[in-house]
Amino acid sequence: MKFFVDTADIAEIRELAAAGVLDGVTTNPSLIAKIGRPIREVIKEICEAIDGPVSAEVTATDFDGMLVEGERLASIAENVAVKVPSTWDGFRACRALSGRGLKVNVTLCFSANQALLAAKAGAAYISPFVGRLDDIGLDGMEVVREIRVIYNNDTSFTTQILASSIRTPLHVKQAALAGADIATVPPGVLRSLANHPLTEKGLASFVADWGRTGQTIL
Ligand code: E4P
Repeated sequence: MKFFVDTADIAEIRELAAAGVLDGVTTNPSLIAKIGRPIREVIKEICEAIDGPVSAEVTATDFDGMLVEGERLASIAENVAVKVPSTWDGFRACRALSGRGLKVNVTLCFSANQALLAAKAGAAYISPFVGRLDDIGLDGMEVVREIRVIYNNDTSFTTQILASSIRTPLHVKQAALAGADIATVPPGVLRSLANHPLTEKGLASFVADWGRTGQTIL
């Protein structure tokens, strides 16, 4: 499973990219608003900082508006993936933009049927929002499992499952077990994947024991 980071914070992206754990980046209008800088400038910087796909989302909700905005976003850099919502206008825009050779990420997906429509519209990525489904008392990861089965059942589908709205390290593990191709993870959760109290305890005792020997390896 690949790792994308779900942020528009360029400093975080550069740091995680340097650690060699990043395969791509996802943003959304809320994440861009949080940064408080012009979207085209931010997306350009992110695209320069990382080789993988960088998702940038349209804000229009109608087909024509999505096409214009999608083209504009895609013109920023070759590695931009245009995000459109899981609506009829979004699926139509996905078909049109994909037909023009652009990579499209269909976002705000909350059901297997929406994922089916996205695949039929030629989406490069489908983004099921796990955490937001959990928030309303449903099992978000079950949607990822269902999509995996549906996509496996039709070998003509090439859409990758991008598990989104990931909130915890457990979500990351479950997404990998469910067969997601990618998980987009907030920076804090991504960093916490390395944490284990027994690793820290074990390392402290190795360092202490080694110190008592007075030896050096070099
Ligand atoms: C995905 O592309 C979205 O940006 C993101 O995962 C949404 O996560 P949230 O539900 O935590 O806002």
